Amino acid sequence: MSDGRALARQFLEQQRLLGGDPVILPEALVPRARVAVAPPTGDRPGPVAVPPPSAPPAATPATPGPGVPPPGLSYDPPTGDLFSTDPVLQAASLAAIAQLVAGCTKCRLCEGRSHTVPGEGAADARLVVVGEGPGRVEDQTGRPFVGQAGELLTKILAAIELPRERVFICNVVKCRPPENRVPQYDEIAACLPYLVRQIDLVKPAVILAMGGTAAQTLLNTKQSLGALRNQIHRFRGIPVIVTYHPAALLRNPNWKKPTWDDVRIARRLIG
Ligand code: URA
Ligand code: SF4
Repeated sequence: MSDGRALARQFLEQQRLLGGDPVILPEALVPRARVAVAPPTGDRPGPVAVPPPSAPPAATPATPGPGVPPPGLSYDPPTGDLFSTDPVLQAASLAAIAQLVAGCTKCRLCEGRSHTVPGEGAADARLVVVGEGPGRVEDQTGRPFVGQAGELLTKILAAIELPRERVFICNVVKCRPPENRVPQYDEIAACLPYLVRQIDLVKPAVILAMGGTAAQTLLNTKQSLGALRNQIHRFRGIPVIVTYHPAALLRNPNWKKPTWDDVRIARRLIG
C-alpha cells in the first residue's frame, strides 16, 4: 500500500476495529494531510477529513505513538539438560509437538476434550501470540482462536499488517478447560513444557501474551494484567508484551484502545 489516502483509510479502519479515541494521523504516514476521526463512541466513525495535498502541515504534531515502555520482568525457565530423553525437549518440529500433545494425558483436561489444540501458524513467525486455552469452537476444530475472540484477534493482527498465517498462535493449555474455566495451576504446569518448546522452536522476535493467564505463566508471576502492561518483559530473552485477552475486549470495549497501544508496541519491536 503506497498512497497516503490508502494508508489513512487503513489506519482509520484499525482505529474503528479497536474503538480508538479521535486520532490525528501521524505526519509520517500521510505527509501534508491531516486526518481527523469521528468521536470514539457511537457506532461507526463519521466523515473523515483529508485535506488536499496542498494543505499546510498540521500545526500540532500528530498524536504520538506510545513511547517505548520500560523493561519489566524477565523469566528464564531452565532448559532440560542436553542429554534429556524427554520427548517434548527432543521434539524437533512444531508438528512433532502437536503429535505429542494429541496423545497427552498429563493432566485432567484430557478427559473432556474433543480435540487437542496445539497451536498453528508459521514455524518461522516473528510473533508468537499466547492465549489461555481452547474454547468451545477451538475444542471442536482443533484450531486456536477460531471462535468469536479468535475473529477479533485475526482482525487485530491484520490491522498491524501481520496476517494470521504469518504468526504462530497458541495457548498456555492445549485442551479445553470445562466450561471455559481458568486453567488450574497444576494443569498449566503439566502443559507448560509444550509451550516452552514451541517458543524455542519458533524463536520469535516478540511474544504477545493475551490475558492474565498467558502473562502470568510466561513471566512466572502473580501480578495482575494491569500491573504487567506497559513494560517490555522478557521470556528467555524474547520481549514479551502483555495485553488484554480478545474475549475480554468483547465484554469491555473500553479496553480496545489500550490493547491497540499494546499491539502497536509489539509491532514496533518486531520491526
Ligand atoms: N481463547 C483463548 O485463550 N484461546 C483460544 O484459542 C480461544 C479463545
Ligand atoms: Fe496434556 Fe496439556 Fe492437554 Fe493437559 S492440557 S492433557 S498437559 S496437552
